[in-house]
Amino acid sequence: MHIGADYYPEHWPRETWETTAQQMQEAGFNTVRLAEFAWAFLEPEEGRFDFRWLDDALAVLGRHGIRALLGTPTATMPAWVARKYPETLAMKPNGQRTTWGVRKNNCFTSGAYRLLSERITRAMAEHYRDHPQVIGWQTDNEFGNNPCSCGTCRADFQDWLRARYGSVEALNQAWGTHFWSHRFSEWAEVPIPDDNGSHNPGLLLDWQRYGSWLNVRFQADQVRILRQVCPRQVITHNFMGYHQDLDYYDLARDLDFVSWDNYPVWGALEIPYDAAGAADLMRGLKRRNFWIMETTAGPGGWGEMGRNVRPGELRKVALQQVAHGADGLIWFRWRTCTVGREQYWHGLLGHDGLPGRRYREAQATAQELHRLWPELEGTTVPARVAILYDYDSLWATRFQKSFPDNHWQQYLRRFQAALVRAGVPCDLIHPDQDLSGYRLVVAPQLFVLPDARAQRLAAFVRAGGVLLTTLRTGVKDEYSRCHARTLPGLLSDVLGIRIEEYEALPGATPAAIQGSGLLPGAFTGTGFADWIQPTGAEVLAGYTTAHLRPYAAATRQRAGSGWAYYVGTVVTEDGFYDALLRSCLDAAGIQPVLIPPAGVEVCERAGAGRRLLFLLNHVEEPRQVAVPAGARALVGTITQGQVALEPFGVAVLRLA
Ligand code: GAL
Repeated sequence: MHIGADYYPEHWPRETWETTAQQMQEAGFNTVRLAEFAWAFLEPEEGRFDFRWLDDALAVLGRHGIRALLGTPTATMPAWVARKYPETLAMKPNGQRTTWGVRKNNCFTSGAYRLLSERITRAMAEHYRDHPQVIGWQTDNEFGNNPCSCGTCRADFQDWLRARYGSVEALNQAWGTHFWSHRFSEWAEVPIPDDNGSHNPGLLLDWQRYGSWLNVRFQADQVRILRQVCPRQVITHNFMGYHQDLDYYDLARDLDFVSWDNYPVWGALEIPYDAAGAADLMRGLKRRNFWIMETTAGPGGWGEMGRNVRPGELRKVALQQVAHGADGLIWFRWRTCTVGREQYWHGLLGHDGLPGRRYREAQATAQELHRLWPELEGTTVPARVAILYDYDSLWATRFQKSFPDNHWQQYLRRFQAALVRAGVPCDLIHPDQDLSGYRLVVAPQLFVLPDARAQRLAAFVRAGGVLLTTLRTGVKDEYSRCHARTLPGLLSDVLGIRIEEYEALPGATPAAIQGSGLLPGAFTGTGFADWIQPTGAEVLAGYTTAHLRPYAAATRQRAGSGWAYYVGTVVTEDGFYDALLRSCLDAAGIQPVLIPPAGVEVCERAGAGRRLLFLLNHVEEPRQVAVPAGARALVGTITQGQVALEPFGVAVLRLA
């Protein structure tokens, strides 16, 4: 297994390199990521390359059995780039260029920047193509959407629209520019939107898509070179989990595998549902296992810092990712830097460079994982539940929330967290992904729902699948126009409901809900209420508040040989989602291997004839878990059918 740290030899005197490599080797590390911010060291002046220091650093590491992934260093530009080519700096909406000296503030349409990026990528690729220690590449660092408002970006956006729509008339049609008489007669009239609250929703959605595509194109320029020059080395990128500015499916397409940067330790202690969900998305991007390219090694922070990892937590954070499909594990960073913006972003070692508690915990974790690797290799998460994760719906919701405080991904978390509590693995996947391997599909706020996609979901249900969907599903088409239909549109038949009216609920007056049967109890609806009229669906919960009394809050219907569930409000109680998901899972014929006690997450990896169960204690109190008969402990001890987990403890079992 590839295990190690993000390491910056260029930050440290050469005299330290040997000791560092020795300490890494003693920790059980075999992999480092290097050079992703080292452009000024690799190309100190335009066209003059210097790889000697990196060769030397690799040689020292090599003597200790450590291999490397190299980052293309384009996330921070050297001073000479900005001095010689000021247009490489992104432009703010007010027409001012950003100031050099931060990072990720380049303009992606700057021809100079694209050329310089290709040149350093090619130079590195040619130098390291046959290097025995270089196993592969990380493109850039954490692509995000750095918006730029320069004239080149605007012209390029117009070109992108031309390629997408073909004619100005088609664009007018798609965006509905008859509204406020915003019709275009030439491409050159299309603006860069600078006010997300007022511009045309179609323009906003396409501008977001374009910004995402720009990053993907920039990466593709590098990937093309790396594939051509270094066909035997792998290519990845360090994604940011639930980062919301890019279409990560697109960004993942050109890569061999996805990596991601996971920093779940910050404020109060809480169950890291998002670290679980983000991992499931990272695995879902290519539907294959991923690497952790950076993860918590100590307190983080640039100005103020967060809390430290408690004893056992550093290991637990790492093993949670392995449990969700990580096949590589790189801690950020090796040693806390003494200078620069990230002086407080702590590494495994402190400023002093002395191995301490965090180093020793990483060492024990590395050794444990090397021991487990023969069992882990070839396994992945065997999910039969999918959550549809759709960037168009997320973005369109960001531009038009429908109701105050509506946060697309946080709403999705209510369902995803319930699956974690139920002990059932899930994949977060693209809404057009093949659904045939899944029994249950959860689609919260599938706001943008083109007809073909709705028809596929309906067919999935009729063929025996279980669908759970919610408010704000099926509202818009792919151009962000509202469908001219009664909601939930093409899903009305399978869901057995009609929604002629709906409303945002004022914050101070939530709606009281009473459930019965499968959803027993009283609950609270907030934010929004669909006025659901069942046309065949069974009512699982209804409103007891005033004017909402005639309507359902949650329903389900048998359709074909499947089931279709609908929730029309934001219920605040976790217990609602637990009961709802239990019903959906029952309908789908999915049983968890075990139902974990509160605070414990259970995950499975399976394949190559093996089934491995991970038990992760996310709380700072001990927990007891009853394990399935015949299970054998690979990590931890089974006593009388129970595993005792210490605070932040982890056990790994092999199922019979
Ligand atoms: C990541 C980034 C690293 C480092 C780290 C801590 O997002 O990739 O370079 O900045 O955060 O701030």
